[in-house]
Amino acid sequence: MTTHPTSARPSDAPDRSADAAQRGADADWWRQAAVYQIYPRSFADGRGDGMGDFRGIISRVPYLRQLGIDAVWLSPFYPSALADGGYDVDDYRDVDPRIGTLEEFDELVAELHGVGIKVIVDIVPNHSSDRHEWFREALESPRGSNARRRYIFRDGRGENGQLPPADWESVFGGPAWTQVPDGQWYLHSFAKEQPDFNWEHPEVREDFLRTLRFWSDRGVDGFRIDVAHGLSKDLAEDLPSKAELEEIPKDGNHPLWDRDEVHEIYAEWRKVFDEYDPPRIGVAEAWVETAQRRAKYASPKGLGQAFSFDLLEADFEAEDFRRIVSDNLAQSAETGSSSTWVLSNHDVVRHATRYGLPPRDGRPGKQGVEWIMAGGPEDEIDRELGLRRARAATLFELALPGSAYLYQGEELGLHEVVDILDDQRQDPAFWRSAPGDRGKDGLGRDGCRVPLPWTRDGSSFGFGEDGSHLPQPDWFAEYSVEGEEGLEGSTLEMYRAALARRRELQTDETLTWDEELCRGEVLGFERPGGWLNVTNFGDSPVAVPEGDVLVTSAELESGPDGQRMLPGAATVWLRRPQR
Ligand code: GLC
Repeated sequence: MTTHPTSARPSDAPDRSADAAQRGADADWWRQAAVYQIYPRSFADGRGDGMGDFRGIISRVPYLRQLGIDAVWLSPFYPSALADGGYDVDDYRDVDPRIGTLEEFDELVAELHGVGIKVIVDIVPNHSSDRHEWFREALESPRGSNARRRYIFRDGRGENGQLPPADWESVFGGPAWTQVPDGQWYLHSFAKEQPDFNWEHPEVREDFLRTLRFWSDRGVDGFRIDVAHGLSKDLAEDLPSKAELEEIPKDGNHPLWDRDEVHEIYAEWRKVFDEYDPPRIGVAEAWVETAQRRAKYASPKGLGQAFSFDLLEADFEAEDFRRIVSDNLAQSAETGSSSTWVLSNHDVVRHATRYGLPPRDGRPGKQGVEWIMAGGPEDEIDRELGLRRARAATLFELALPGSAYLYQGEELGLHEVVDILDDQRQDPAFWRSAPGDRGKDGLGRDGCRVPLPWTRDGSSFGFGEDGSHLPQPDWFAEYSVEGEEGLEGSTLEMYRAALARRRELQTDETLTWDEELCRGEVLGFERPGGWLNVTNFGDSPVAVPEGDVLVTSAELESGPDGQRMLPGAATVWLRRPQR
């Protein structure tokens, strides 16, 4: 496990007393962890019904151990109608019977812990599902009742309240207010099956503390907090219109997003985390405006860590990557948290595909996301270049100080699956946006959620015995675990080698840019112990500096005078001779 020098611990961090020296190391396990996100319904199907489950994950624990990760983050596995892939939770303290049972959850945790892998579960506190017992009770209860006050109900506008309280749009498109049979309306920031909780209600607050203890008592090591910036709302006054809402800066006072008082909630959660030894950890999914606002979520008095999506949102460009890394490291040094890095997750186009999109507006990658989301055409994606860059970016990411959050399938170099028929799609972001006006979310997020290929052939490429709940394309065969295992130069073997090296090399959270190497489209930085990362973002080969090669994302070439050269779109890790 990685350790962290105590000097980086902020002075206001909680004193964990007693045998702190021994426990201190363990309490810091998260600071530089490689965390692997499992989307349970699409990882491995152990029961043979086309849907991934706990039995499937348990059967793949040896794979996870061999991959060399420190922790898994499980996306929601709670009972759900799957209106939003499980982010519509019916019951926060149970398991979807299609995924398993609480006993199987315990077994999974024990298996993972047995091989030294920590477990993070997803908490979805902004909204429940409309099948949650509290929401059903709210529908059966009169206006103004306690049951209604746990959610956000309002009367409508217009003479008979026939108009929604405001003309707001949900994040997935379509209206954010839905009317119930007695005429009132409720707020849902996402799909209509996801009613927003009223976090001013003490029972809501209490219930989530109970949920945090419930899973902590079952041995989970931490929590990923969904839409962490959405819980607190100020809807007391007359509601602004959509146009007015858009004008309000998101600087702590916006009626819906990133309000300052949300941190009071997380201060309470921190107390619960600290009841455990080692303390449970939290990582916020908070899409906020600035790094400073994000830092509030990462405070040691709050959740402790927050995702930075800066790299995920950047093009594959040296200048951008350098700026992002420097800014994020400076930010974490200030807050006492550690930096986080993400290139892919279950909400975005996989990075192997993003980096291979045709340039749009003269810019590479990212600009093309809107285009691909609008439907293609798929054959314009340069999959080979995309994967080369993705591998280079991943090695770069894994060499950085801080935690790397990896998404299932990226270790296989998987691409986004674009070719899914409309009637096979599941994502509400697709279904709620109007055809022809699908905007940047267009095709939705199913393309990165297609079940993993484990074998070259067979039913659903070894995912399970009865097909897969989203269609897998033929080209998955080539990206299967079986196809890549033991194959020199495969993406899987690169991840394994890099993760193993990282465990050995990762020491304190510092990085020094090598100004001699940082020229034009090349970035070079050194970590303690002579661990040097060189990334070539350009097309032409560059000379590789002195040192033993540890891992490369692409085969090194030979220059005219026999010099080792790093080809374009590639990264190499070296160990520099120690002076
Ligand atoms: C988060 C999740 C996403 C989900 C949304 C609503 O952004 O990552 O998958 O749709 O919250 O819960």
